[in-house]
Amino acid sequence: MSDFKIAPSILSADFARLGQEVEDVLASGADIVHFDVMDNHYVPNLTIGPMVCEALRKYGITAPIDAHLMVKPVDRLIGDFIDAGASYITFHPEASEHIDRSLQLIRDGGVKAGLVFNPATPLTYLDHVMDKVDMVLLMSVNPGFGGQSFLPGTLDKLRDVRRRIDASGQDIRLEIDGGVKIDNIAEIARAGADTFVAGSAVFKGRREEDPHRYDSVIRAF
Ligand code: DX5
Ligand code: ZN
Repeated sequence: MSDFKIAPSILSADFARLGQEVEDVLASGADIVHFDVMDNHYVPNLTIGPMVCEALRKYGITAPIDAHLMVKPVDRLIGDFIDAGASYITFHPEASEHIDRSLQLIRDGGVKAGLVFNPATPLTYLDHVMDKVDMVLLMSVNPGFGGQSFLPGTLDKLRDVRRRIDASGQDIRLEIDGGVKIDNIAEIARAGADTFVAGSAVFKGRREEDPHRYDSVIRAF
């Protein structure tokens, strides 16, 4: 299995001081910036788009940015996120008219591509595109909001994806998103995840004595 990576979701950051927040979590040991894009159409919430991704790059963030697109349609935004400096672009198969084409668009832009599965989305979407994904993102909550509880049924699904990835022999990251906390991350890792999105757990874990440090949570992971 690959090395473990922590990907704080900036959905729970203070957007008024986003550059500093991202700098702080990275300095505290985070590996990847998880960037939740919501359109108030595919999911019932509205967040940030490619301009903000580009602004983080201009601010000087060089860590991988993992753009999780909860938007429909998908393809129109892929080029914008490639140009904005995303490192990974993942999307929900139900939101794409042509899954293979969307994956190809992402890779053609030199960016790593991934599919995202809601709790009730079947894994069969992977059947014909396993060789075209660099990441599988399993939602352990229904998408749209931070701060929800981890759905325990996701653990079996994680084990299933882990088997599929191992059988493929490919280098594919297995990311989990939603309700990841200090007290459940070990169990989630044992079920096969190697990349852990955490929003509220990280951003609520700021040190009182030093508001720029999140390492008490990130190291506990
Ligand atoms: C939900 C988002 C998640 C969310 C995770 O749609 O994709 O990234 O922010 O937040 P927590 O860690 O608070 O469950
Ligand atoms: Zn996400």
